[in-house]
Amino acid sequence: MRKPIVAGNWKLHGTRSSAASLALDIAKGIDSLDHVEIGVCPPFVHLADVEKLINTTPLWLGAQNVSEHESGAFTGEISAPMLSEFGCKYVIIGHSERRTLFAENNKTICAKIQTVHACGMTPILCIGETLSDRESNKTKSVILDQLNAVLHSSPAKVLEALVVAYEPVWAIGTGKTASPEEAQEVHQLIRERMGQFSHNITEHLRVLYGGSVNASNAAELFAMPDIDGGLIGGASLKREDFIKICKAAEAVGLERTKN
Ligand code: PGA
Repeated sequence: MRKPIVAGNWKLHGTRSSAASLALDIAKGIDSLDHVEIGVCPPFVHLADVEKLINTTPLWLGAQNVSEHESGAFTGEISAPMLSEFGCKYVIIGHSERRTLFAENNKTICAKIQTVHACGMTPILCIGETLSDRESNKTKSVILDQLNAVLHSSPAKVLEALVVAYEPVWAIGTGKTASPEEAQEVHQLIRERMGQFSHNITEHLRVLYGGSVNASNAAELFAMPDIDGGLIGGASLKREDFIKICKAAEAVGLERTKN
């Protein structure tokens, strides 16, 4: 049984006080949900505050990025041991904004996955195609290329611990969402490809959908058999909407316990 995950990616938003009140309100709003794992990924500087506020609640804490280095002369970087010390359980890696705006490549992404895993945290690997990839029928090959880079450079124990987020680049922050069927097709492809490495992965891998998920479309996306929750950007900053999205995932999680 795969328990859904809902992760809020706050990106570069919020003040110290707005981050604290958002975290508290979300923690209160999701308190009764048992069939979904919910977390928030604030900007680095808010991690310590948010950690103190949520460490006795079911909410987990995550980071939006990490250095591939553990320590050293890397001005401006934050390492996996540092994130772990601040209570992070998950780290988003290879988000399309990191790939395109900060020139992250597959080699760096693979190194980040290893360091996060070595520190006992769960990497959330983001992959997804651009609009021109999709329009030229390259979705499948782009997804497989991004996945293969990680599959070929990571030991089985790292792959088994991975969470994957399928985020079509054209759907991120645009208000355009993949249809549930379009998303399902790619999620199934991801599960099949990862599953070629171990049957255990096929059964347990959680593949999140991300890209303009909101309170109105979450339920139909999460209802698809290979979608195991979502990575939520814009809507994770709107407390009522985010809680509704979490409730949609809770309903799916509850249903899965019955099967
Ligand atoms: P969005 O962002 O929900 O605002 O489209 C998703 C993401 O970037 O992870």
